[in-house]
Amino acid sequence: MSLGNGRQYLAIPGPSVIPDRVLASMHRPSPNIYSGELIDMVPGIVSDLKAVARTSGHMAIYIANGHGVWEAALTNVASRGDKVLVPATGMFSHGWAEMALGLGIDAEIMDFGQRNTIDMARLAERLAADKSHEIKAVMTVQVDTSTSVRNDVAALRAVLDAVGHPALLMIDCIASLGCDDFRMDDWGVDVMVAGCQKGLMTPPGMGFVFFNDRADRARDVANCVTPYWDWRPRVEPDLFYHYFCGTAPTHHLYGLRTALDMIAQEGLEAVLRRHGVLARAVWAAFERWGEAGPLELNVADAAHRSHAVTSVRVGSAKGTELREWVEARAGLTLGIGLGMAPPGSPEWNHFFRIGHMGHVNAQMVLGALATIGAGMIAVGIEHARGGVDAAAAVVAGAA
Ligand SMILES: Cc1ncc(COP(=O)(O)O)c(C=O)c1O
Repeated sequence: MSLGNGRQYLAIPGPSVIPDRVLASMHRPSPNIYSGELIDMVPGIVSDLKAVARTSGHMAIYIANGHGVWEAALTNVASRGDKVLVPATGMFSHGWAEMALGLGIDAEIMDFGQRNTIDMARLAERLAADKSHEIKAVMTVQVDTSTSVRNDVAALRAVLDAVGHPALLMIDCIASLGCDDFRMDDWGVDVMVAGCQKGLMTPPGMGFVFFNDRADRARDVANCVTPYWDWRPRVEPDLFYHYFCGTAPTHHLYGLRTALDMIAQEGLEAVLRRHGVLARAVWAAFERWGEAGPLELNVADAAHRSHAVTSVRVGSAKGTELREWVEARAGLTLGIGLGMAPPGSPEWNHFFRIGHMGHVNAQMVLGALATIGAGMIAVGIEHARGGVDAAAAVVAGAA
């Protein structure tokens, strides 16, 4: 029988759970896009997004998903034939590099595998060897959603400074903004890209590029820039219509306004603390379960794990069976092991991910973990008992 009727928990790492308040605020007739409330609302959205990114720099909004803002960021700072260096820790860093290659930008990938963060010593060595400063930008992810590796962005800036390399630092915070601590200005990040569909709790469809004056100077000479992706007309437009290079994403803006209000009401620090505790609860469960049997967190060192998503190695082909069981029998949808093995290969079934980003609280995460526990019993994944108790102890200790 199925026990799945009731409210579903979409525990994939984006799109994330959309709060009812966000959905309700989008349920309205189309607003005027030339004058009135919508126009008055956007400057506040821009300043609140900058507060979440902790920057006083510039920001352009695009009607686009994450791939769109990857392209936007690249086209504004790079010319065909320029070199960018991409320290890669999973599928999404590789994805940004491939987009650069597709634009005619020479992306050099330094691959650190699927389970480790960036080796800063190796990166420093590579940058120091670039005496002619051929590398125009170092670009990577803060959190790679495929592997759940979290990279140390402040350390990346420290490496660039120690070597005295002028490359721009470009960071993808699509999975991490509003979930993991990020400080654009303090950490000397020149360009940051984010989307609305994860920590910002809004349906997919809007992307953001944050940039500083240094990056904007690179825009002066970039020959990849095209009219739609050009960030300049979007920053301080003469006409509201030009904010979005055309028709505004009307309902998304209402949803995002509400999501930002919710973040402000809880307080950004409290939002980040909540994500930290819930992530530790998830890790505690899997660490306990993994004491017997093959189950393992993908990232061994807790200091390098995301607070938004956790990637799990099942150690057998039962990962897919588990996902299918918890979805069909219990109303819990887990993420596929994206980028960990080729689709269709037997190893494809060896992984799953759990998203714990955005509008997520303790009962949802504890419920998801207990459901995964039930699924493991049902499909026969060997594990030590006590995972949910270990997670509950983390929650109890923090609350
Ligand atoms: C870190 C990261 N970068 C980029 C992307 C691509 O975003 P999208 O799927 O919205 O194009 C994702 C999507 O999950 C992501 O997690």
